[in-house]
Amino acid sequence: MNITIFGSGYVGLVTGACLAEVGNHVVCVDVDPDKVALLNDGGVPIYEPGLEELLKSNREAGRLTFTTDAVAGVRHGLFQFIAVGTPPDEDGSADLQHVLAVAKTIGEQMDDYRIIVDKSTVPVGTADRVAEQVRTHLAARGVDVEFDVVSNPEFLKEGAAIEDFMRPDRIVVGTDNPRTGELLRALYAPFNRSHDRLMLMDVRSAELTKYAANAILATKISFMNELSNIAEALGADIERVRVGIGSDPRIGYQFIYPGCGYGGSCFPKDVRALIHSARSIGYDAELLSAVEAVNDRQKDVLFKKIDEYFGGQLAGRTVGLWGLSFKPNTDDMREASSRRLMEALWQAGARVQAFDPVAMDEARRLYGERPDLTLTPDALAAADGADALAIVTEWTQFRSPDFGQIRQLLKEPVVFDGRNVFDSRQAITAGLTYFSIGRTARRPD
Ligand code: UDX
Repeated sequence: MNITIFGSGYVGLVTGACLAEVGNHVVCVDVDPDKVALLNDGGVPIYEPGLEELLKSNREAGRLTFTTDAVAGVRHGLFQFIAVGTPPDEDGSADLQHVLAVAKTIGEQMDDYRIIVDKSTVPVGTADRVAEQVRTHLAARGVDVEFDVVSNPEFLKEGAAIEDFMRPDRIVVGTDNPRTGELLRALYAPFNRSHDRLMLMDVRSAELTKYAANAILATKISFMNELSNIAEALGADIERVRVGIGSDPRIGYQFIYPGCGYGGSCFPKDVRALIHSARSIGYDAELLSAVEAVNDRQKDVLFKKIDEYFGGQLAGRTVGLWGLSFKPNTDDMREASSRRLMEALWQAGARVQAFDPVAMDEARRLYGERPDLTLTPDALAAADGADALAIVTEWTQFRSPDFGQIRQLLKEPVVFDGRNVFDSRQAITAGLTYFSIGRTARRPD
């Protein structure tokens, strides 16, 4: 089938590569000529395991092309995917200008039946606005052709996006036209083999499903983070509590890991957008507002512990930092807890020596050269000569370090673990004072 994808960002590229991989002819359209040139040269603007190879093989096979030519894009695909960004507006609502700009282009150029697929995470009611936009521009040209607007939200996790697309746990398709539903079923057939994972529903329910999924996951995390603060103050161990509740299948083990807050491109933005959508219809989303507030506070927890340990005297101190990305296996630092910690440390006059397995370039891009930030070639170098070590991202390679060596390298043998990745017994046996989340500090025996 012929498919056009507007927006060569994270979602657009993964969707394009995977749809091409199963034999479709995919044209990816982006307004940024530099990005398109990079993609045509075999480059990839983001880090995502497996994506580079998939883009390459499909480009070479002639099933995947990149262009800035939106007109050619509208001509090409029966399916017109909209996968452009929906950045938050100042008030937290999703900014739909890019989505509506694509709708305008489609309305201005289409001459045959088209299925417009909203892949971007967009507030309930956006499909109606896209349809309105297309209709207006068709009418202005005096053209009368049919089209449908479908909501087909993505549930990709950064770092596992290809796998999530190829083997989805659900494919949500929102359409009010049964015939279009069947065309989407055919498009997704290669990803829907062992049992039927495609859920057909009305457009608005599909739009809300995406927000509901992210909001409940964010709620689980904020719940555990709130509980971790209570556990710590009461002398309980949140990790024991976690295992104790996770064994109940109604609760489950996933997404109940306490930490120093969730970040990334989805949870913070989507929770805020849902709060805003609720407000716009006069509903005060109290629970979601609390999820957001608890997360915001949790991002300061590590700094507070460090500041308290040093008696508010952080000026001139150096903190070693392990992890910059908002989670492992990505270089994405959007709303990452590392940023809040670094910025608070700098504000207090401290220096940071940081290491991340893949996000070093991203940190350089965000912060440039500054005297209070050193990016080190490896994890141990970040600890070398530092007054304390802080862990912000749960990369596997941080889990079992040589604790004795860390003890040797640190000026002050103290670790602040924001993701509970260390084995506390091993840390204190090596002579480290160990602060973590939701557990009282452990000092060497
Ligand atoms: C999320 C959703 O998981 C995905 O389904 C959706 O399509 C997009 O948003 P992503 O943002 O890639 O994916 O990251 P995810 O793995 O969900 O992690 C989000 C944040 O929550 C990270 O900062 C992570 O460290 C944190 N987290 C996750 C916790 O603090 N505790 C947990 O138990 C799980």
